Amino acid sequence: MAQAPESLELLNNNATDKSLNRDCTTLSRHVLQQLQSFSPQAQDLSALMNRIALAGKLIARRLSRAGLMEGVLGFTGDVNVQGESVQKMDVYANDVFISVFEQSGLVCRLASEEMDEPYYIPENCPIGRYTLLYDPIDGSSNTDTNLSLGSIFSIRQQEGADLTGEAADLLSAGRQQIAAGYILYGPSTMLVYTIGKGVHSFTLDPSLGEFILTEENIRIPNHGSVYSVNEGNFWQWDESIREYIRYVHRTEGYTARYSGAMVSDIHRILVQGGVFLYPGTLPKPEGKLRLLYESAPLAFVIEQAGGRATTGHMDILDVVPKQLHQRVPLIIGSPKDVAKVESFIQNGH
Ligand code: AHG
Ligand code: MN
Ligand code: MN
Repeated sequence: MAQAPESLELLNNNATDKSLNRDCTTLSRHVLQQLQSFSPQAQDLSALMNRIALAGKLIARRLSRAGLMEGVLGFTGDVNVQGESVQKMDVYANDVFISVFEQSGLVCRLASEEMDEPYYIPENCPIGRYTLLYDPIDGSSNTDTNLSLGSIFSIRQQEGADLTGEAADLLSAGRQQIAAGYILYGPSTMLVYTIGKGVHSFTLDPSLGEFILTEENIRIPNHGSVYSVNEGNFWQWDESIREYIRYVHRTEGYTARYSGAMVSDIHRILVQGGVFLYPGTLPKPEGKLRLLYESAPLAFVIEQAGGRATTGHMDILDVVPKQLHQRVPLIIGSPKDVAKVESFIQNGH
């Protein structure tokens, strides 16, 4: 048998397996450690995060085999409440979250991008005082080409009994979130979460079926070179955003990155710094992204990592929606880069 080149041997020998480390931390252990308690609320949060992790594993497993199975990829032919074409994976992932939470006993309501109205699990409602808000597949247009995708989640405590089934208590600011994060389906599957005590990332070890702690207390750089925006919308933006983009074009040190899935774009920015923008356009002044299950959870994560998220005029986490599926302009990332965009919006330079 041919000998492996020396450099490859070195690489293999130097690679250590974090999952084999006696001190490796699984997600559920981490949540309990964070809360430093075995109180009922800590147990609930740990169980909720475990269920989200299970949903992530099921979706990751399906995605990893999508090209080998019939009927997984492509469109269903339906259009969702957002007016967007629904992919088969959107439906599958939406149903995965419902079924894992049906068994949890903890969640009374789920609200998602793919459902017009909240979904109630009546048998959980007398005891399950939590609501899960989620985007089952973020970046759906990447699905059929085997590119990065995400899921976004947000957990809120239910306020009041919601006897009328209107879920009016969900129309409150993002500061009410008790946990939020995302799952990134990339070359590996990662889960990033916050319960208001910093931001932590985990990588799925598929052979163990466990999310293992990768990095604790992630801090976003104060500034980064990346700006992430769909420049195809240039002529539909307000002049202030166009001026900002002209500024990055003529200034050394900026580089563009845009994948079509904000979970991957914002994950890159969390780790390496920079700014992601989805501003309003002339036909859609509120932009495209939905507040409750896209912008607010990601804003919670980025703020907890020391970054910022704004509409250009107010913090995303202070926006009170009028409707479940309300959209909001989003500028999110490193503090210095967000402030720069803000200054163009507010002062024109
Ligand atoms: P979704 O797939 O949940 O509808 O979200 C896609 C979002 C976001 O992830 C991405 O950054 C953006 O829409 C892409 O939109 P454009 O194609 O308009 O750039
Ligand atoms: Mn999305
Ligand atoms: Mn989606």
